[in-house]
Amino acid sequence: MSTTESYEYTARYYDAAYEELSAQRADIPFYQNLAAETGGPVLELGCGTGRSLLPIAARGLACTGLDLSPAMLEQFRRRPGAEAVTLACARMESFDFGAQRFRLIFSAFRAFQHLDTVEQQLGCLARVRAHLAPGGLFAFDLFNPRLERMALDSEPETLDLSFNYEGRPTRRYVGATRDRVNQVIQLTMRYVEETGAGPARESIVHLSMRWFWRYEIEHLMHRAGFTDVKIYGDFDRSPVGRNSPAFVVLAR
Ligand SMILES: C[S@@+](CC[C@H](N)C(=O)[O-])C[C@H]1O[C@@H](n2cnc3c(N)ncnc32)[C@H](O)[C@@H]1O
Repeated sequence: MSTTESYEYTARYYDAAYEELSAQRADIPFYQNLAAETGGPVLELGCGTGRSLLPIAARGLACTGLDLSPAMLEQFRRRPGAEAVTLACARMESFDFGAQRFRLIFSAFRAFQHLDTVEQQLGCLARVRAHLAPGGLFAFDLFNPRLERMALDSEPETLDLSFNYEGRPTRRYVGATRDRVNQVIQLTMRYVEETGAGPARESIVHLSMRWFWRYEIEHLMHRAGFTDVKIYGDFDRSPVGRNSPAFVVLAR
């Protein structure tokens, strides 16, 4: 299943699944503050349904969102405030906005981890550098891989989320297999939506994510030509520690 196909199914549940989680995550205020500091224009790579970009656009900054999934962008267009955002269906490793430059380019909620190969990652970073205004900022977040979990070849399916989709109780079960040679996790997400009297509606999504080690990102960023690179362990800019949940990367 390609990433585009995966998000075709994911789009249906994305906003409902992450509604509660988003209220607890510090990523939205983090990117909002960066956007306010830079003053825009702002570009998000892998903007999905607008979870992170719409709150920035709501503050009146010029925003562009890019995503490879027509289904996710379709959900984005339905949300209040979307008309203020320029949307493009394109890949983050090959986009081209001509002479347009951005003061902030960001990629929230691990979208960069859908780039499996170094060639794709460097391709994306080169496109970012080409589109940054002088002194502009690039920011993104990744999960901090837990060594003990990365050592497992597979993890059995478990209940990961319960939420309501248009009033119908819905559950998401997630299982994983790992390709440690290529640092890629293959996730299988099974959504089960109760439909009342009839049988539950079930959809299965396969999604791959590349994991990164801390110094790998540092080297990658420098190889791509970024000079001022900072990696934090969370959105509060705490240093990377043993139990840090994320790598939050800021680069110029
Ligand atoms: C986990 S979602 C994050 C969405 C949004 N950034 C958020 O914070 O909710 C990842 C998004 O990245 C998009 N994506 C994955 N690979 C991509 C690529 N190569 N180019 C552009 N978008 C991509 C997916 O379609 C999806 O919408």
